[in-house]
Amino acid sequence: MSASRIKQGERMILVTGATGTIGRHLVRALAETGAPFRALVRDAARGRELGCDFVVADLDEPASMAAALKGVDRLLLNSGGALPVAGQQPMVRQQTTAIDAARAAGVSQVVKVSAWRPRPDAKLSVRAHWQIEQLLKASSLQWAMLQPTGYMQNFFTGEGGFTHSGALAGPYGAGRVAYIDAYDVAACAVVLLTGSLGISKSYALTGPQALAHEEIAAKLGVPFRDLSPRKAAEKLRAQGLPGWFVGDLLWLYADMAADGMSQVTTTVRDLIGRAPRTFDEFLAANG
Ligand SMILES: NC(=O)c1ccc[n+]([C@@H]2O[C@H](COP(=O)([O-])OP(=O)(O)OC[C@H]3O[C@@H](n4cnc5c(N)ncnc54)[C@H](OP(=O)(O)O)[C@@H]3O)[C@@H](O)[C@H]2O)c1
Repeated sequence: MSASRIKQGERMILVTGATGTIGRHLVRALAETGAPFRALVRDAARGRELGCDFVVADLDEPASMAAALKGVDRLLLNSGGALPVAGQQPMVRQQTTAIDAARAAGVSQVVKVSAWRPRPDAKLSVRAHWQIEQLLKASSLQWAMLQPTGYMQNFFTGEGGFTHSGALAGPYGAGRVAYIDAYDVAACAVVLLTGSLGISKSYALTGPQALAHEEIAAKLGVPFRDLSPRKAAEKLRAQGLPGWFVGDLLWLYADMAADGMSQVTTTVRDLIGRAPRTFDEFLAANG
């Protein structure tokens, strides 16, 4: 960890997932507020790159989490999805460890990055988030759940589903998704981590408009190919993904195609006092 120590009376914030899609924006925005915080990283070299105080710990190592949470008042709980092991997302075990350690350390509030409409009959990390939310709600901790739709960043990380020739391809149909810029999710997290403690609440976060993937492809300047679920399954299996996982991914695509992620909320504006970025503004900021 870099040199600074927690001063008495300061409300220290610990940021997990600090090197990730939301985390990178979050550490920058938190630094601007002057609020005392530190980033949790697995690799000290990555912590040094962040340019803020950091602590080296791992969600898979309970003792390291106990040490990292010492003196912490608020925890930003965020970690990436990984392939499930024996049907269980590692995220459930990892974030359970963090919640248990937070309780033991006397943390007062956990702000959790969750997912859009977490529910028990969902698949992939959406179901994992539902499980973790239940646990957090049942704990003695105050909580805030950030429930974002898909991140605009997915179209840069490849999660949006591109072919080798660069076309945006998937069984999207004409379904619309109110994608959000991770930058705006981070801005919401800052408000909750630095504001006064209130009622525990869930925040459904979206961008300002719901776009069809054909429109997104046009904005990205690439061709769009709407695949049938069968064709999409073939493509995903050809990429080496196991059959059961392909089935879970198709569940997510079907949800998007059926407009399950098309609702636009005013929550970002209500929380941070400005409109969330449009897709065009996102592209301009990352061009
Ligand atoms: N992508 C979307 O559209 C979307 C939409 C809604 C919700 N979400 C949720 O957003 C969250 C973030 O997803 P993402 O794909 O954007 O990932 P990410 O934030 O880019 O990366 C994951 C972060 O978790 C950290 N991490 C992973 N395993 C860890 C461990 N064992 N101990 C400590 N830190 C660990 C990583 O640190 P290292 O640098 O050490 O790897 C990294 O900072 C996920 O929970 C996802 O379900 C995603």
